[in-house]
Order: sequence, then structure tokens, then C-alpha cells
Amino acid sequence: MNHQCNPIQAKPAMGGATLLPLLLAAAAIAAEAEAGALVGDKCEASGCGAGMRCASCSPLPGSGPPVCSRTTPLDPKQHRGTELPFNRYTWLTTHNSFAIVGSASRTGAPIIAPPNQEDSITSQLKNGVRGLMLDAYDFQNDVWLCHSFAGKCYNFAAYQRAVDVLKEIALFLESNPSEVITLFVEDYAARGSVGKVLRASGLSKFVFPPAKMPKDGGDWPLLKDMIADSHRVLVFSSKPGKDGDGMAYEWDYVLETQYGNDGLVGGSCPKRSESRAMDSTKQSLILMNFFSTNPSQLWACGNNSAPLVAKLKTCYDSSANRWPNYIAVDFYMRSRGGGAPLATDVANGRLQCGCDSIAYCKAGSPFGRCALPPKTAATSPAAAPPETDTSIISPAAAPPKTMTPSSPKKVTIALETAVTVRAEEEASTGTSAADGTASSSSSNRLSTSSFLSGSFVPSLLLLISLSYIN
Ligand SMILES: *[C@@H]1O[C@H](CO)[C@@H](O)[C@H](O)[C@H]1NC(C)=O
Repeated sequence: MNHQCNPIQAKPAMGGATLLPLLLAAAAIAAEAEAGALVGDKCEASGCGAGMRCASCSPLPGSGPPVCSRTTPLDPKQHRGTELPFNRYTWLTTHNSFAIVGSASRTGAPIIAPPNQEDSITSQLKNGVRGLMLDAYDFQNDVWLCHSFAGKCYNFAAYQRAVDVLKEIALFLESNPSEVITLFVEDYAARGSVGKVLRASGLSKFVFPPAKMPKDGGDWPLLKDMIADSHRVLVFSSKPGKDGDGMAYEWDYVLETQYGNDGLVGGSCPKRSESRAMDSTKQSLILMNFFSTNPSQLWACGNNSAPLVAKLKTCYDSSANRWPNYIAVDFYMRSRGGGAPLATDVANGRLQCGCDSIAYCKAGSPFGRCALPPKTAATSPAAAPPETDTSIISPAAAPPKTMTPSSPKKVTIALETAVTVRAEEEASTGTSAADGTASSSSSNRLSTSSFLSGSFVPSLLLLISLSYIN
């Protein structure tokens, strides 16, 4: 009975069936599995490197081999640590984070509402997700995370008790003392309800007090000060008047793009109706939505790839030349290669050092002075990449506010295209550079070179960027 009425939920089972023999094969050649494959490599014969998983983004049987795709962005703190104001970081964000494929019923009735993600909140957090979108309802004398039907929660859409999810978040914050998480609450609950479960979960001691949030678009505190003050969870409500619950009225602080299919349309970046204009400078955080009206694992594969990176640039142009701080997607681990983690790296690179990825930021270098990935995958990926003239790879070397509008688009599209091209490449090189980041303290270790490694990439990037002249 369970789940059968929802075709979307049949897909993971199929993915699992495909994965099992792969995992067995990988185990048989443990040494290879240890070495790991690169983003976009077929992964029949080996595991993928850190921060990746082996998955097919063509769920139709026989329509494509599973490839290594990224699950985890580079740590947004890897370049400047916690020295920057909070609004100078971009965080991977999951839409309907609580609506998980294959969720067992918690109310006694089967869940038949469409899911949006594939792993638990704890797993999302371990993979570097730092923004969670939660829909809160008063239901069964408690607060539940639920999909709404005419503004009400029903058994068949009641995914999880809010307190359970908030406890997972509190536990993560306890054991990861430099992490900051943002909750976007689509709030259907009465005043007082969410505050109560925040307290019951142990999360309220981490809450950033709404009264201390910057008004009129000023900078947020430095990340390190937020950490020192134990203000490590920002909670925004879609409803005003919830300050007493620890929730700030979202639209006073956050600009948010249109969600659903209207938000996927290329070439424009409309706001969602509740938000101020995207170019309003009275708010200093920006959330970019990029997911379809009806969640689909198949569509997420395509949309979380090149279209997502292209949208970043469009929204930058519409948002008074600001990069989004939150990139919100469905099925965040699905893509044809780099996906939403790569888009997060791109935004952090642009925001923090003026480069096309945070992987290309160079310690101590002026804004716009970027590193290239290593020339060959065989050289130690942890070695410092050679310095190059930024005008080659990154024509827009100026800080974001003065950036020329056309050139970075070519480059960022090229980044994702290179990954796509690599994903379609039949032969794996057999070389490994998958796990190359010089060990930053982060748990989100992922190679600076893994998604763009191999000697062909820099030239390929240039070629592709030159061919993108719209
Ligand atoms: C993106 O999602 C839409 C559904 O809103 C779908 O029609 C489209 O095919 C998807 N794009 C890609 C490239 O998969």
C-alpha cells in the first residue's frame, strides 16, 4: 500500500537496485574504490571521491550510466574563514527539507504528498546544506512539518514533527561549533507554537535574536561574532509578529526570487510576491529559488545543472549586482555533475574573491586574482595551483559591484558545461584527483580540482566560454 500511488517514490528503489551491484563491484576492487573517481566519471568500476555519490540522473532504465555527482559544496569558510559579514557567504539550501522520499508515516497514515529531498535533515547538514525550508502547521496538538492542502495539514501530508527535526539541527550545532544554519519557516502555525517547539528541541539557545538583525540593508555581523555569541541559527517566518517566537519577519531581511515553474524560466529573475523588489537595498540577504512546481527527481537532474548556474548570473543582474546568499533547490544531490554544490561554489567565489568558484580564491591575493586548477590530475591536487593572469580565465576581475554584465556569464556557464561535457565523456581517465583539498578543518572536504580536473579543462573552459556569445 505504502507509497504506491506516488510514482515519484518508485524511483529511488530503482536507483538502489542499480547501485547495489555497483557497490559490490567497487568493493571487489577496494584499492580502486579508495582512489575514487572524478565528477562526471562513470562509476561502475570505482567509488566516487569525497563529497560525491554515484547516481544515475537518467532514471529511465538503460538511458544512461550512473556517474559521480556532487553532494557537497566546498566549505564557504575555506577562503576567508569566519572573518566576513554573514551576508558575504552563500549557503546551499533545501526546499521542503523535511519532505523526504520514502518517508514512513509518523501519524499512522501513509504519506502520499510528493517529496522534495532524498536524505534526512542530519544527512543534509553533513553534506553542507545550511539553509532549510520548513512548512510549519499546528496539527494534532503539536507543530508538524507538512504539505498544505488549502492551508491545512492532513495525515497523508504530515511528514515529521517539527520538534524532531529541530532536535536534529540542535544536535548538529552542538557537535559542529562553527556552523551557522538558517531556517525559512513557511508559517501556518499560531503565534507561540513554533517558539514552544524551538524551546522543547534545545534549539532556542542558538537563535539569533530578531531584534539584533541589521535593519535597512546593513551588513550582518561577522560570522565569527555570530559564532562567539552563539547566534548560530537564523529563523525567518513568512508571517510578521513572531519575534517573540524567535522568528524574524522574513521579508524585512531577505529578498526572495519566484519559486516553482515561473522561477525556472531563463533570462529573468522575478521576485516572489511577498518579497520586496529584487534590487531593493533595504535587505541584505538574497534567496534564489530554483525548483519546479511539481517536484521531480528527473527534472531536478536537468534543472540543477547548467540552467541553475545561468540563473545565478541572471539573478545577480536583477539584484543590484549581488550574488544570492541562499540557493534553494529540490533533490539537491541530483545533477549531471556539479549541480547545486557547484552553483554554491560559484556564488561564494564571486562573492568572496571575484573568481568563478571559491576553489579559485587565493589566500592573501587581491580581489579578482584567481588560481587555476592544477594542470594535470596526476599532480598532487593539494599542491597550490599555479598563479595565472586572471584576465584569461576570469574576464570580470573587478569586485561584484562594478562587474561587467556579460563576461562572467560566459565563464560560469562554461564551468557547468565543462562538467557536463566531462559527464558525457565515455572513458574515465583512471587518474585520481578526487580528494584533493588541502585538509581544511572542514568536514566538507572536497577537491578543489575534482570537478574540473585534467589538463583539458582550462583550455576547454576557454573554448566554451568563447563560443558562448549571446
Ligand atoms: C526543469 O523543470 C521543468 C518543470 O518545471 C521541466 O519541464 C524541464 O524539462 C526541466 N529542465 C530540464 C533541463 O530538465
